[in-house]
Formats: sequence, structure tokens, C-alpha cells
Amino acid sequence: MPNEKTLVVIGAQWGDEGKGKIIDLLSQNAEVVVRFNGGNNAGHTVIVDGKTYRFRLLPSGIISPKTLNVIATGVIINLNGLLEEIEEAEKNGLLIKNLYISDRSPLVLPYHILLDKFYEEKRGNKKIGTTARGIGPAYTDHFSRDTLHVGDLFDKEVFKEKLNYIYSLKKATLSSDFQLPPFEEVYNSQLNTFEKLMEKGVTITDTSKLIYDHIKAGKKILFEGAQGTLLDINFGTYPFVTSSFTISGGVCVGAGIPPQSINKVIGVIKAYTSRVGEGPFPSEIKDELAEIIREKGQEYGTVTRRPRRVGWLDFVALRYAKRINGFTELAITKLDVLSGLEKLKFVVAYKYKGRIIDEFPSSLNILEKCEPITEEISGWKQSLKNIKNYNDLPENVIKYKERIEKELETKITIIGTGPARDEIILLKDPWE
Ligand code: IMP
Repeated sequence: MPNEKTLVVIGAQWGDEGKGKIIDLLSQNAEVVVRFNGGNNAGHTVIVDGKTYRFRLLPSGIISPKTLNVIATGVIINLNGLLEEIEEAEKNGLLIKNLYISDRSPLVLPYHILLDKFYEEKRGNKKIGTTARGIGPAYTDHFSRDTLHVGDLFDKEVFKEKLNYIYSLKKATLSSDFQLPPFEEVYNSQLNTFEKLMEKGVTITDTSKLIYDHIKAGKKILFEGAQGTLLDINFGTYPFVTSSFTISGGVCVGAGIPPQSINKVIGVIKAYTSRVGEGPFPSEIKDELAEIIREKGQEYGTVTRRPRRVGWLDFVALRYAKRINGFTELAITKLDVLSGLEKLKFVVAYKYKGRIIDEFPSSLNILEKCEPITEEISGWKQSLKNIKNYNDLPENVIKYKERIEKELETKITIIGTGPARDEIILLKDPWE
């Protein structure tokens, strides 16, 4: 069912594009904000009036008291993590009401976290560099049909029976180095947390129907993507990916809505590239400039605080992201971090065994041997602080933006000039 008021926000790179800020801007006018993939491996940072909010599972619309916030079926839920996050948000003065969670969402249980660490250890020098939140093992259980769902907690006996069965399977898998906590402890803790969430007014329901009703009523709905295109389980740099569908198609499978209900897809691009964890990164900067950008951009994991690797904008990867997601417009973030650099680069193609490649390779073996072919562009000296009008931006910022637009044949309609909520230039309101 078409609805002209649905927006999807997707990270165009390896996550950490600054989606939190864009989502915050758009959710101020949204009636419903929906998370549709991932779990508490995500970390969306929003800064309002000097106060920093970090969301992992909570939709960023939680800042606005009027918005309906939905955690849909494609999201895996660590109940204890969610409760902690809610308590932290309450301490920060946020009111947690209007929070709806899918009864079909898979649970992340303590053994998933142990298994995540266990597998990483076993991988030796082939580590993925996961966030150790149990994400991979929880999605694995889901696909192998051994998952427990949030809705199972409504019936203690059913939950106990299912958990008991799965517990014996997990015990047999984990080595003695990774002792599972006692069954009763996990069972009681899940029930207690579930009850506390109910007391806080969280609603567990069929979120697919809830979203459908709002689409039908013509409400403004924002679908908030977590991670980024190149971390998608199918189309990312496998195996150095997360275990969910991070692309725009993930909205349909994660929220349970038909494709024709999606109107616009906004791709969020950071003005340079970063990636946390292992895996190929053709545009990576390997000299001391990387350290300068990392420090200036505070490129450290929101969840794990790990230093992120940084690189130039990669047009090969971005053209691929545009194709996979069908971006209708773009937002660019963190341009301010590049202020002061004399020369900037774009990766325009790759060289592999003497051949020029301009399509993002599906083979990791090829990708990791690709050398970047770059194009240089002049930087800008000025700080972008306090610039509120597009025409006041340094000329070279505008040239940088226009070069990206030309390459991706898509307009940049939102420009981030700093971390705070109001450090943003809106050229065209996507809700209109
Ligand atoms: P997992 O999602 O914890 O399994 O981690 C798999 C890969 O995805 C690792 O390289 C993580 O660093 C990366 N990853 C997961 N979530 C995020 C995110 O929100 N931002 C950036 N990278 C992420």
C-alpha cells in the first residue's frame, strides 16, 4: 500500500555514518519511528542542547515525547540491555512511553554472548571483530529455528520448556572455558526483566500490523537503519559483516511491510569512510593523517570504544550502495572533520592485476587485492562552525558536495556541519 510519507534512512558505508543525527532531525517531524534490523550492536549518537544520548536498541524518536517508537521483528532483543538503556534514558530525563516491541523478535540470551566470544576466539587470526553482543549467534539460532521470541515470555511454562531444551544444546557446544550461567538464573532474570519492562509501559505486540495501520492512515513513518550497506549479511564484505539485513530491502523483511509502502530512501554518507573491525578497506588511509582524522572525528566505536579505521570516500563502494538501496536522496555528515586538510581524495576505481575495476567486487579475495585509483580535490581551511546557510559554505565544500552528487547521480539534501543537533543545513525537507 503506497504511502508518500514513509522515509527510510540507510548507512551507505560500513556503519557509523552519523545516521543518529539525521534520524534525529527527521524524527522531529515523524509520527512513527521504526527500527527494523540489528540489535544492541548498533550505536546511534544524538546530541541535543549539549546533552549526548547514545541509543543501541531504542529508536531515536524516543527523544520526542509525541513519537510512536517501534522495535520491529527484524531486530533481536537483549532484554537486560534494553532495560539498562531505558533506565539510562530515564536518568537523562527522557520519558519512555509509546514504545512497542514485536512479539516475534528473537531474544538474545546470555549463551549467545558467550558463543560470540567463543567463536571469535576460535577464529584466531581470522577474527571478524564483532561487537561481542551475541548478534551472530542469536541470528544463527533464528535461522536454524532454535530461537526464543519475546512473545514466548507471556507464558512462563512454554518459555521454560523451550529454554530448557535449547540450554542443553548450547551446553554441548560450549567448551569448559565458557561456562554457561545456571539455567534457573537465566530463566529468572529474563522473566524479571520482562516484567520490569511491562511495568515501564512497554507494549509487546504484532508490530507489523501496528505499522500497517499507520501506513494506511497516511502517517509520517521513519524507518531507522542500523549499521551500513557494506555490513549487510548478503551484500556486504562477507564474512566481515553483521548478521542482519542492513539495506533498504531489510525494511520489508524486518518490519513486515510491502515494498510499495516505501517512498523515499535516504542514503547517509560520512564525508570520509570509516570501518571498525576487520576486513578489506580499499580506500583506507594508512599514514599519520588517519590518526588526525580519527581524533578530530572522534572515530571510536559507540558501543565498544574501539578505534575505527579511516579512509577517503570510495565512489566504487558508494555507487554500489546507491544501486543496492535505490537512494532517492543523500545526506552528508561530518564535513567539518575535513576542515583544514589541504588536499582530499576520492577513490574513483580500483586496479586489480593491472585491470581497472569500477564495480564493487563480490569476491573478498579480489577486493582485498584491489588498489585504489584516486582523484584529488582541494580542501578548505575554514571551520564550518556556525554556518547555517548553504551559500556561506566555503566554495570547496560545495565543490566536494557537487562532485559526489555528480558521481552518484543523486542530490545531497542534508548537510551535517558539526555534531550538535542544530549544526545541519537542510536544503530540502524529505517529508515534503
Ligand atoms: P556484530 O554485528 O557484533 O556481529 O559485528 C560484525 C561486524 O559489524 C564487526 O566488524 C562490527 O564492528 C560491525 N558492526 C556491528 N555493528 C556496527 C555498527 O553499529 N557500526 C559499525 N560497525 C558495526
